[in-house]
Amino acid sequence: MTQRIVVLISGSGSNLQTLIDHSLKGDLHGDIVGVISNKADAFGLVRAENANIPNMVLDHKMFESREDFDLALIEQIDSFKPDLVVLAGFMRILSEEFVSRYQGRLMNIHPSLLPRYKGLNTHQRALDAGDAEHGCSVHFVTEELDGGPIIIQAKTPILMEDDSASLQARVHTLEHKIYPLAVSWFCSGRLRVTVDGVMLDDNCLPSSGFELKV
Ligand code: GRF
Repeated sequence: MTQRIVVLISGSGSNLQTLIDHSLKGDLHGDIVGVISNKADAFGLVRAENANIPNMVLDHKMFESREDFDLALIEQIDSFKPDLVVLAGFMRILSEEFVSRYQGRLMNIHPSLLPRYKGLNTHQRALDAGDAEHGCSVHFVTEELDGGPIIIQAKTPILMEDDSASLQARVHTLEHKIYPLAVSWFCSGRLRVTVDGVMLDDNCLPSSGFELKV
């Protein structure tokens, strides 16, 4: 059965676009049934509209607490009856209740080789540390910020001439390769998280996830 996917965004939505494109090609094994943004001016809403995907804004500033916002968010997400909830540049820290409700079916993409550089400014931090390589990770979400079990990573070497912008652009290209893959694995029933870690086709992945060689 085709899996139902809800995507949460806050901004440009280039990862959302990649997921839309793969879904239209039929290789996502899932349909994006709803897009929710916490920002009214997120360009990702235009992408959803262009693809005829139901979309809505839920402005966190309209709520008194994180918990109140998250409860309203849960209500909206559940109205789409999703099998998978995908965070694609959703710039909110989620409450315990939210995370536990979607445990095992909530994914995030992060622009670093986790567990390195959780949080913001990942590209500059990798440059400042003099790292030889950088990249991105897709992981299941747990209560620990950017800390859940890793599904897949892709790496790029850091070049002498790189600055934060050039590195970000290369990492973004990698994001667009690994996110559709992780989502398609989940939607085709190949991927799940267990107490032993992330399983792909009944093989336990290493703690750094599957490495997509590019
Ligand atoms: C990406 O870099 C993603 O890793 C991070 O937020 C950014 C979203 O980009 N979580 P976009 O909105 O998908 O273009």
